[in-house]
Amino acid sequence: MFSQQLRIPGPTPIPPSVQQAMNQAMVGHRDQETKELIHTIQPLLRPIFGTKQEVIVLAGSGTGGLESAAVNIANAGDEVLVAVTGAFGDRFASICEAHDLKTHHMNVTWGTAANPDDLKSFLLDHPTIQAVFLTFCETSTGVLNPIKELAAVVREYSNAYVVVDGVSSVGGTASHMDDWGIDMLVTGSQKALMLPPGLAFIAVSERAWKQIQDNSQRRFYFDLRKYRKSLEGDSTPYTPPVSLLYGLKQAVQLIDQEGLSEIYDRHQLMMNMTRKACKALGLPLLAADDIASPTVTAIKPDHFSAKQLKMMLKSSFNLNVAGGQAHLADEIIRIGHMGYCSPNDVLLCISLLEMGLSKLTGADTFGVGTKEAEKEYFHFLSRKEDRG
Ligand SMILES: Cc1ncc(COP(=O)(O)O)c(C=O)c1O
Repeated sequence: MFSQQLRIPGPTPIPPSVQQAMNQAMVGHRDQETKELIHTIQPLLRPIFGTKQEVIVLAGSGTGGLESAAVNIANAGDEVLVAVTGAFGDRFASICEAHDLKTHHMNVTWGTAANPDDLKSFLLDHPTIQAVFLTFCETSTGVLNPIKELAAVVREYSNAYVVVDGVSSVGGTASHMDDWGIDMLVTGSQKALMLPPGLAFIAVSERAWKQIQDNSQRRFYFDLRKYRKSLEGDSTPYTPPVSLLYGLKQAVQLIDQEGLSEIYDRHQLMMNMTRKACKALGLPLLAADDIASPTVTAIKPDHFSAKQLKMMLKSSFNLNVAGGQAHLADEIIRIGHMGYCSPNDVLLCISLLEMGLSKLTGADTFGVGTKEAEKEYFHFLSRKEDRG
């Protein structure tokens, strides 16, 4: 009867007003209503990406957005570099390989971040790299890679395009795509944008558009040139998921109302609350503080099974957290705190986590993590009030 506490790092809960917006009666995808929808959405999407460019909206999940980026910016045989910091960097590399790009991997230990100096050395040793693929938030480890610094290195030491997977970061942490010299920034709908799965988004720099225009790589559905052309008339080349667009309009309006800097502060707070609570509970965190993601936290227990804890939280307390991926599958749990998630939700999540821990290990964990999280929240609010 009661809905579960959905705290996986996507899909994330949907605000009721977004849910309601998606229930509107269907309209024709070439009708004025859909054009107005697209027209209203565009200017509200751009600041979320930190760009003055149009943001292409595709039907598909985040992976579709990543594949679209790869086939538009590069051509079979091109030499590209992927910084692999976890499962999603791995996926980016697989996409490149599937399209016959000559793919170099810059492998980084999972749980650590890509290092700009290592990237610089790699680029200096491989001057023919045409594109560098980076993951902003590596959702599989809870690491936020230093995208601004990494992009700056690519721009300074090569002519390569900078392509960024922002699937679990865009909307939850600041993206200044134009200022940071990012050429393509991709995200999906089901994370910080507070929508169901089904939409992918790609913003493209002016210099990348030139490359896309001239690129002879074969592509059809994902040919971004067609989407850009259609967008001039507030339209799409193929039938868009109209109901999701209704939801998107409501979601970007909610984002606009709350304000981006307030949203980023809220995510930072939720990260701090979660991390302080875990530390108080003696739960080791996979990522260090200085590279921790504001949208997802990975915990690597050292004296009990992560898998058992995850299963118990679901079966006993209706709290749904994620496990790990690949070699970390049973080693970590990941808590999502992004999108339609408030500090109050985080308190509830920590409280349930404490109960799960107590049930699993027999330790008296009641209130231990929530106390630290409450203090973090309380001080955040006091500082905000002091600022007026
Ligand atoms: C960083 C990152 N990249 C790519 C993806 C893949 O997105 P999707 O599952 O929507 O295809 C995800 C999904 O969790 C992600 O977190």
